[in-house]
Amino acid sequence: MTPELECLFSFLRFPSISTDSKHTGDVRACADWLVAKLSEMGLSTQLHETARHPVVVARNEHISSRRTVLIYGHYDVQPVDPLNLWSSDPFQPEIRDGRIWARGATDNKGQMLAHVLGVEKTLRESGELPVNLIFLFEGEEEIGSPNLATFLQSHREELKCDVIAISDTGMVASGVPTLGYGLRGITCCEVILRGPKGDLHSGLFGGAVANPAAAMARLVASLHTLDGSVAVSGFYDNVRPLEKWEREMWAKVPGVSDADFLTVTGSQSTFGEPGYSSAERTWARPTAEVNGIGGGYQGEGSKTVLPAESFVKLSFRLVPDQSPEDIMKKVKAHLEAHCPCGVTMEFIPGHDGKPYVADPHSQFGIAAQAALRSSFNSEPVLIREGGSIPIVQTFRDILGVDTLLLGLALSDAQIHAPNENFPIENFEAGIRLNQALLKEIAKH
Ligand code: BES
Ligand code: ZN
Repeated sequence: MTPELECLFSFLRFPSISTDSKHTGDVRACADWLVAKLSEMGLSTQLHETARHPVVVARNEHISSRRTVLIYGHYDVQPVDPLNLWSSDPFQPEIRDGRIWARGATDNKGQMLAHVLGVEKTLRESGELPVNLIFLFEGEEEIGSPNLATFLQSHREELKCDVIAISDTGMVASGVPTLGYGLRGITCCEVILRGPKGDLHSGLFGGAVANPAAAMARLVASLHTLDGSVAVSGFYDNVRPLEKWEREMWAKVPGVSDADFLTVTGSQSTFGEPGYSSAERTWARPTAEVNGIGGGYQGEGSKTVLPAESFVKLSFRLVPDQSPEDIMKKVKAHLEAHCPCGVTMEFIPGHDGKPYVADPHSQFGIAAQAALRSSFNSEPVLIREGGSIPIVQTFRDILGVDTLLLGLALSDAQIHAPNENFPIENFEAGIRLNQALLKEIAKH
């Protein structure tokens, strides 16, 4: 194994699951490991405490005539359940079929470490970097970065930069370099419906009082029209229409046809807002999703019960110029208006993040395209992303800079799912990409 892969394997062995308080110590140990790695490379490195998981910042010696690049990544990972569906231990990385299999392999440890190792290589080869560099790594991305905005506010001066680069997004197909110039925003909530004071025998009481599970089914069904649009009043009010050039450009992007979406997902047919392709629906149109739903008996066989309550976890993906607060207000009003009678509703707001879009043809966008072209030896494609990295718009709001999204995640990387994986090829390309990117940015 190469020293680079050894290093990635060490990083992947930390079960740095940010959402699970049982793993708080593991998240911390992972941050400490990063601090040691970055310090050993000669970067001036600091671990900053937050209300929960630490932020790690590292920098080279800055020279005022040079461009300053901030590279962001996250060292926390998603939970691993259902564990029985993994072919190997999520925290004992393995190589099979040219890919690294582990939780965090793609999202985001593999992509993030490629930048660290690219910098290490350049330092080894030339003794210095062509730019002023700031690494900013957080341990809370997968829980919505609750403490990073405050951190940016209080460290604005030392985080001043010309441009930000992140590898935490997608690559449309193997070997096709991909520059992202947009991300969807998000807003989440949970709803609990309550009926009788306790679970009831469904023969004795069913039909006489409202069933919270059935009421939930009706409430959830009210969120969409039959053809797949979102039925919340005013939901589309501030949606910026797709540009003609984007639609034309995206129609030629490989790996994202409707047929590709069926192959990747294993679904029978596509479904969503009429008039748009799957890529357009996920990259540039807002959506409403049920992330979890429950109530009543979940065990084996049947149990004739009328549950006392039911719940649903919802998330809404947003596009420019929708605002998370405005959408959540409209969603809440919709849920209140459509709540079936006989149950009471508790509405619990969740985390949110703003949508983001930038000009892929800005001077730094051009630099990113040149770096992608040279490190993959192929023409880059320009896309927007269906996923969210809420801190990207916050970077613009607080630091006043745009972000280059240099994605290395394949659509079958199984991020957030069992058997997450990252091709060794992408890891190596990521290292080259970092080296080329810093050189290209130095030219602009
Ligand atoms: N890296 C992903 C986001 C992503 C993946 C964007 C692939 C584009 C392509 C990130 O770690 C993530 O999962 N974000 C969450 C954000 C949420 C927890 C606020 C998401 O999109 O669900
Ligand atoms: Zn993620």
